[in-house]
Amino acid sequence: MIANRRKCLRGVIIGFVFASTVWMIALMKKSYGSRYFETRMRNTSEKFHVETMETWNPNITVITAYFDLGTFPKGNLGTHYTRDMYFNWATTFKFLRNPIVVYTDSETFKQHMYTLRQGLMNMTKIFLIKRSTSWAFKNIDKIRALFSSYNYPKHYPNTVIAEYACAQHAKYDVVARAAEQECFGTKYYMWLDIGYFRDRVNKKRSFRFLEPEDFDENRIAMTRIYSDHHLNVTPKTIFLNNLVYVGGGLVFGKKQQIVKFASQVKQTVNYFLEQNLTNTDQQVIYAMFSKEGQKVIKPEVKLQCYKPPTDQNWFYLGNKMTSK
Ligand SMILES: *[C@@H]1O[C@H](CO)[C@@H](O)[C@H](O)[C@H]1NC(C)=O
Ligand SMILES: *[C@@H]1O[C@H](CO)[C@@H](O)[C@H](O)[C@H]1NC(C)=O
Ligand SMILES: *[C@@H]1O[C@H](CO)[C@@H](O)[C@H](O)[C@H]1NC(C)=O
Ligand SMILES: *[C@@H]1O[C@H](CO)[C@@H](O)[C@H](O)[C@H]1NC(C)=O
Repeated sequence: MIANRRKCLRGVIIGFVFASTVWMIALMKKSYGSRYFETRMRNTSEKFHVETMETWNPNITVITAYFDLGTFPKGNLGTHYTRDMYFNWATTFKFLRNPIVVYTDSETFKQHMYTLRQGLMNMTKIFLIKRSTSWAFKNIDKIRALFSSYNYPKHYPNTVIAEYACAQHAKYDVVARAAEQECFGTKYYMWLDIGYFRDRVNKKRSFRFLEPEDFDENRIAMTRIYSDHHLNVTPKTIFLNNLVYVGGGLVFGKKQQIVKFASQVKQTVNYFLEQNLTNTDQQVIYAMFSKEGQKVIKPEVKLQCYKPPTDQNWFYLGNKMTSK
């Protein structure tokens, strides 16, 4: 009986020792494991931090805007631009490693941008604005009347949807606002269309803009679209035939130059509107630098055209500036 009880007790003790050893090993492993995990996390986040800091460019503020025009026809072929398309294109801004300033008249778009820029909010400013506060939209009645006249040529949406033309002119309003307010105090400010990098929507990789090579700081950098289009064309021909010289998707310059350039664009829009001529910013800029346009507008800030090896390479400058 006694021997049996002793055996039993020994068994209980052995069992206890075994269990507590297992427990202690588990505990040690757990604490070692979590310490290891913590260090790894710290290392990973440090690495992440270093990487994000390395890839930032704090010298260029990127400005964009979205005015909700709903769905509108893009051309004569039955294609449309929808709200969803713009929202989808905007996802590329999640990967943009420059400070950005966004102007919009859509609460939904504002929320969308907040979500996309989560974790990047210290490099992001979003302004909800009324489009009526922009000089560009103050022309809307005049432009609507002009576009609705039967003999004004119809280029969808440029010379059909008055709001679309106004929204294109408004780029130069908001880019000047951001530069004048010295958002992020950067040396350079640039306009970028929401849809500029629509080709990268599925890439989901970080990128940043660097100043373009051989940039002349007194000028405004844009992409040349047609190498054979010259400046000896009348503004009337440019507006009515929807001609393009440089692409309006990206406009880059130093703070002071971009502010001055924006004011030249405003002056040109208003001047030609008086002549019953308008179209998007691309025709406005072509007209401003045409021989005839230069005589009246006398643009102080000139263009530096980045010329792709082939025509109609709309995203040439943007790809160049983000390739490093
Ligand atoms: C953390 O980084 C340091 C130095 O870079 C390295 O020596 C260490 O082994 C790393 N630790 C872990 C758990 O990765
Ligand atoms: C930003 O500007 C500073 C000062 O000119 C320069 O040293 C730095 O390399 C620039 N950063 C980038 C990413 O271009
Ligand atoms: C933004 O946040 C990052 C990470 O917290 C920080 O390193 C960086 O200096 C901040 N930038 C600005 C402009 O505050
Ligand atoms: C512009 O159009 C308006 C309305 O049709 C007309 O009264 C005005 O004379 C036109 N201006 C010019 C410069 O053609």
